[in-house]
Amino acid sequence: MTEKRQSIHGQWSSRWIFILAATGSAVGLGNVWKFPYITGENGGGAFVLVYLICIALVGLPIMVAEILIGRRGRQSPLNTMHALAQEAGRSPHWRWVGAMGIASGFLILSFYTVIAGWAVAYIFRAGSGAFQGATADEIDALFDGLLASPWALLGWHTLFMIMTVGVVARGVKSGLEQTVRIMMPALFLLLVLVVGFAMSTGAFERGVEFMFAPDFSKLTAESILIAMGHAFFTLSLGMGAIMIYGSYLPQNASIAGASITIALADTAVALLAGLAIFPIVFANGLQPGSGPGLVFQTLPLAFGQMPGGVVFGTLFFILLTFAAWSSSISIVEPVVAWLVETRGMTRSRACLVSGGVSWLLGIGTILSFNVWAEWKLAGKTFFDWMDYLTANIMLPLGGLFIALFAGWVMKRFDVQDELGLGESVWFKVWYAVTRYVTPVLVLVVFLHAVGIV
Ligand code: TRP
Repeated sequence: MTEKRQSIHGQWSSRWIFILAATGSAVGLGNVWKFPYITGENGGGAFVLVYLICIALVGLPIMVAEILIGRRGRQSPLNTMHALAQEAGRSPHWRWVGAMGIASGFLILSFYTVIAGWAVAYIFRAGSGAFQGATADEIDALFDGLLASPWALLGWHTLFMIMTVGVVARGVKSGLEQTVRIMMPALFLLLVLVVGFAMSTGAFERGVEFMFAPDFSKLTAESILIAMGHAFFTLSLGMGAIMIYGSYLPQNASIAGASITIALADTAVALLAGLAIFPIVFANGLQPGSGPGLVFQTLPLAFGQMPGGVVFGTLFFILLTFAAWSSSISIVEPVVAWLVETRGMTRSRACLVSGGVSWLLGIGTILSFNVWAEWKLAGKTFFDWMDYLTANIMLPLGGLFIALFAGWVMKRFDVQDELGLGESVWFKVWYAVTRYVTPVLVLVVFLHAVGIV
């Protein structure tokens, strides 16, 4: 047995803080902004079903794999995979999986902070009473007005980027950990308030039906790929974010138990977000397939009509901002850890570099909503490409290699030692799924959608 390593970046104070931080990473724009609009665009129930299957058979096993690889290696994903591959007598080229994760991190952060910026802007809009008594058309016009203004978008994008790297620069214990300690309980409280309200509005049944009555005629190869890609995106898998969080996990904590908790919490929030949004969509004759503006066009309508809507609306967008914030820090962390380890940078400098590059790239996403809106490659704008390339290609590929790494590259003994489940059924089931089921599923969906199979 190899001796246990220590991370040079720090360690979570407890297993509980790790669960908070990883749940904070998983629960984000993906749950509240992206999941409802892609469900709307892909026809509802059948899509949700495929998504849930992907969470269980692809997401959960890969989450366990990422955490165990991270904790075993205790370095940035790139250096961890390099070290563990060599330790197992395998090719150091496995580090390219970590390198692809770093590239994904830059790309995801670049559009994540743009969208999160919309949420921040909407705190002020809700707070100023801009939605009170407004019609659906007026709410749409407000949203279109924001998207049409590159300077406003740039301002919010810049603010959110500073908020993100500001936390990461302060380090694992005083930055990430202190932030999730405050933000996550607040987030849960706000969520309970908002869901309570959603259940009191009409058209609840039609929303439930749309989300849970599967119509398989609406399912295409591409929508299956989108469902799988989203399972990666929403659980923060495939690029090393959960892996780096795992590298800060105390040695005695249970990886399997934590993974199940995180995946359940994340799925619950996504389903609740759908249940809050679709009833409003149907009650107001809106289109479920209206795209990335969905949350920003439906919920304000509801807030504008209900008593106490100014307070609820403001609270909701604060919630969305917190959720996005505790996610965006996890997108930068692996990149920063790598820059510190390999380039010898200080944390602050590494934050400046990684935030700066993503900030610049984000300008492409900003312009794709206005000046470049007509510029399309194969029907997709710059933002569509960033999203497609990361969620549907890079994350599934990264996840596939991570599953292969835990299942086939690392020694069975080492994997078992790190998981601490002994020779139990749980271990055997996870190991078999990770070696055979997950890689085959990812590969088949992937090749099918790309048109090869
Ligand atoms: N999971 C987050 C969300 O749903 C986004 C996110 C955070 C992420 N870290 C990630 C996505 C790493 C992919 C990879 O909003």
